[in-house]
Amino acid sequence: MIGTAKQGLDVSITGLGCKVPDRVVTNAELSQHVDTSDEWIVERTGIRERRIAARDEALSDIALPAARDALAQAGLEGKDIDLLIVATVTPDMAFPSTAAILADTLGATDAAAYDLSAGCTGFMYALAQAYGMLAAGLAKRALVVGGDILSRILDWEDRSTLVLFGDGAGAVVLEVVPERGFLGFELGADGAGGANLWLPGSGSRIFDDPDRYVKMNGREVFKFATRVLVQSAQDLLARCEVTIDDVDLYVPHQANVRIIDHATRKLGVPSDKVVVNVDRYGNTSSGSIPLALADAAADGRLRPGGLVLMTGMGAGLTWGSALIRWTKEIAA
Ligand code: ACO
Repeated sequence: MIGTAKQGLDVSITGLGCKVPDRVVTNAELSQHVDTSDEWIVERTGIRERRIAARDEALSDIALPAARDALAQAGLEGKDIDLLIVATVTPDMAFPSTAAILADTLGATDAAAYDLSAGCTGFMYALAQAYGMLAAGLAKRALVVGGDILSRILDWEDRSTLVLFGDGAGAVVLEVVPERGFLGFELGADGAGGANLWLPGSGSRIFDDPDRYVKMNGREVFKFATRVLVQSAQDLLARCEVTIDDVDLYVPHQANVRIIDHATRKLGVPSDKVVVNVDRYGNTSSGSIPLALADAAADGRLRPGGLVLMTGMGAGLTWGSALIRWTKEIAA
């Protein structure tokens, strides 16, 4: 699915917040659980440490401060929101949705609230949905949260997945604005590749293997990721009639620094325009892109007038890109 924002109301991001758990887990600490080393992890992934949620911390607990910060930046309160989407594969529970739980805590009593599942691409899918509802006049102010506590669904004895992931959440507020913010989206899914990254036993299908842990074919996901990050971005740029040189900030999904480097090289983005924080957080799934946006805001790279390209990819297998002209000064 690909489309540009040539019709409908103009929509942009007016608030941004993020939250990671306090506990830092280094590669050295993981090497006490599984047969790995800091050297291997840094060389193959670029990851040095990640945050891991405490036992009593669920997704809504880290999503809440992120959401509150995003609302405060937009000058809004929970009651002003009429659409709340939480993109995640690790909700507090299957139901009620984490979005409904958050809406209640935030006092968003007028909001439609639901969770959205598109793997690590969830935040990009949720952005596109919220954009569509606002551009069509169905909603006025949306809160979009992306976050995961992947440490709950990892096998702490499987070195091939344990070292890659971390926990975290980010939130953005979307509003109708006077000038064009979002320029377009490109989203896709390839269910044929689904078993390369999956969580068998987590739903209604019964599996013989009782382990409900993430299972991944790393090499196949690597090949998929390097292909779609480039293709999706190029298709969207072409459709929006802009070139990569027009892009001021590139925010790719933070899965592996080698995947990011490959996409950056193929797209032709200079490294000073690329946001990279996978070294500090690992792959936080749906939290990855909003956490990266917040880092860019904190270091002054997310400036009004700047053209921002984001691309995510993940389980499904899914991918998604968005192009936005940043319209507001935000210091996360
Ligand atoms: N520590 C030490 N050795 C390890 C580890 C580890 N943590 N994990 C695997 N190895 C070993 C393997 O067993 C293998 O050993 P062998 O040669 O004796 O069989 C060797 O290292 C090489 O393994 P490869 O799988 O070939 O290593 P590769 O260079 O492909 O890197 C990696 C593996 C990092 C997983 C890479 O394939 C990758 O990044 N894939 C994409 C993963 C990803 O991005 N997933 C999530 C995307 S979607 C989402 O965000 C949810």
